[in-house]
Amino acid sequence: MPGDNTTKALNDSLNGLLADYFTLYLKTKNYHWHVAGPNFRELHLMFDEQATELFALTDIIAERVRKNGGDTLTSIAAIAGKTALKDDDRTKIDAMEMVKVLRDDNAALVTAIRAVKDAATEAGDNATEGLADDWTDQAQQRVWFLTQTLG
Ligand SMILES: [Fe+2]
Repeated sequence: MPGDNTTKALNDSLNGLLADYFTLYLKTKNYHWHVAGPNFRELHLMFDEQATELFALTDIIAERVRKNGGDTLTSIAAIAGKTALKDDDRTKIDAMEMVKVLRDDNAALVTAIRAVKDAATEAGDNATEGLADDWTDQAQQRVWFLTQTLG
């Protein structure tokens, strides 16, 4: 088999990324729900588009782990234990602060995806390797939109 250890490392990396996606999904929804100010409509809509994009990938990432013979995440507690991103329970944040936080989190996601891709190369999982490039492009698009919003 192409290295049990490299596959295990890849699955751990994928599960970490999955936890990051769930965390960032909920954080982006928090901002969608609580954003206020003169740019309300624009930001409310952009945050929702981004949240939808994040959520859509969660099933794909989880099923890569299962196709590699691993177990994936099972609960909110499992997500909290695995994510590298911070929750944000604030509801009254300046709208541009929300944009900055999401820009930084999505940039961190780009780095995490790169680590998953490297682990996929090591494990000989070319399906995950190929998917990771699409995930990167999507995350970079979010970073771009958020960065441009800051002016
Ligand atoms: Fe909504």
